[in-house]
Amino acid sequence: MGKKFRMLNMAEVERTLSMSDVLGLVEKAFEERGRKRVQMPPKSYLFFSKFSGDLRIMPAYLEEMDEAGVKLVNVHPNNPSKYNLPTVLATIVLFDPETGVPISIMDGTRITAMRTAAASGIAVKYLARKDAKVLGMLGAGYQCLFQLEAVSEVMKIESVKIFDVIEKKAENLAVMARKKLGLNARNVATAEEAVRGSDVVVTVTPTRTPIVQGEWVAKGMHINAIGADAPGKEELEAGILNRAKIVIDDWEQASHSGEINVPLCKKIITRANIYAEIGEIVAGAKPGRVSEDEITVFDSTGLAIQDVITAWRAYEVAEEKGIGQEIEPLYC
Ligand SMILES: NC(=O)c1ccc[n+]([C@@H]2O[C@H](COP(=O)([O-])OP(=O)(O)OC[C@H]3O[C@@H](n4cnc5c(N)ncnc54)[C@H](O)[C@@H]3O)[C@@H](O)[C@H]2O)c1
Repeated sequence: MGKKFRMLNMAEVERTLSMSDVLGLVEKAFEERGRKRVQMPPKSYLFFSKFSGDLRIMPAYLEEMDEAGVKLVNVHPNNPSKYNLPTVLATIVLFDPETGVPISIMDGTRITAMRTAAASGIAVKYLARKDAKVLGMLGAGYQCLFQLEAVSEVMKIESVKIFDVIEKKAENLAVMARKKLGLNARNVATAEEAVRGSDVVVTVTPTRTPIVQGEWVAKGMHINAIGADAPGKEELEAGILNRAKIVIDDWEQASHSGEINVPLCKKIITRANIYAEIGEIVAGAKPGRVSEDEITVFDSTGLAIQDVITAWRAYEVAEEKGIGQEIEPLYC
């Protein structure tokens, strides 16, 4: 590892990694977590309540790989309509664990979308039925094309149904999914239509009023609940969790701010309802799906190890290929 300091903007990050690279990296991060070889205190939050937004600080160290860093990331759902900015914007700083020297700063917005989508893909790989072919997507924001790309790498998708409260966004996403990913995608008029009959459902909205209703969810369905990542957010009617095998990414984060946070507070479920962390399944400590009939839910809050492992590889590729700007270390 050299000690040069490299700066990468979003376009430069884009030139470093493909979705299949990130799927492999995120699977590895989950495995490292399952083998207890990472340090990752839960996210810290600053709440900008008067601006309906928040900022999170997410540090991680993958010990075996000697990769360390911190992501700083906001969530401001009004950004797209009010300021023409993404809801989620992130910056990642990497550190040499041997000396503590910062070695890179890069845009983390694209990495966030790719690693979040890759987590979805890995959850589908371990938890969805092998014959799953119909995908329902709730939400059509920035994350969603990445979500479709990652899931399409692990699932043979025959059709995709997309719903968003803003119809135009669902329409646009369907067009992009057809053009860019070659998927048989269409937008639908209701959340119910997107969910009923789907084998896999991915929810990626900032809602605090659950969208997915229990009666739409059939045996054998797998749901990736991605949108809930702050206290009070909730996308699934809580009764669904009582019928499901629940897999989370991290207990501290999920109980504080993931899909399970509201049902836990209301005592609709308890910790005993949680089957596993995804890392335990990837590391082989517990099986994933074991029957065709079970309903499985993956509650993703997003782990700093996903960011650090992805950013580190982006940095390595950028070093090899001379992508980005090499500048004097900041401490000089
Ligand atoms: N789990 C993770 O690791 C992770 C990572 C990134 C983002 N997120 C979360 O995912 C969510 C979406 O992020 P984004 O960057 O795509 O945001 P975005 O603002 O770009 O998109 C959100 C979309 O959801 C739609 N929407 C809002 N309420 C809805 C409802 N009730 N039904 C259907 N559609 C609805 C909006 O119209 C919008 O198109 C946010 O809550 C964000 O915090 C989670």
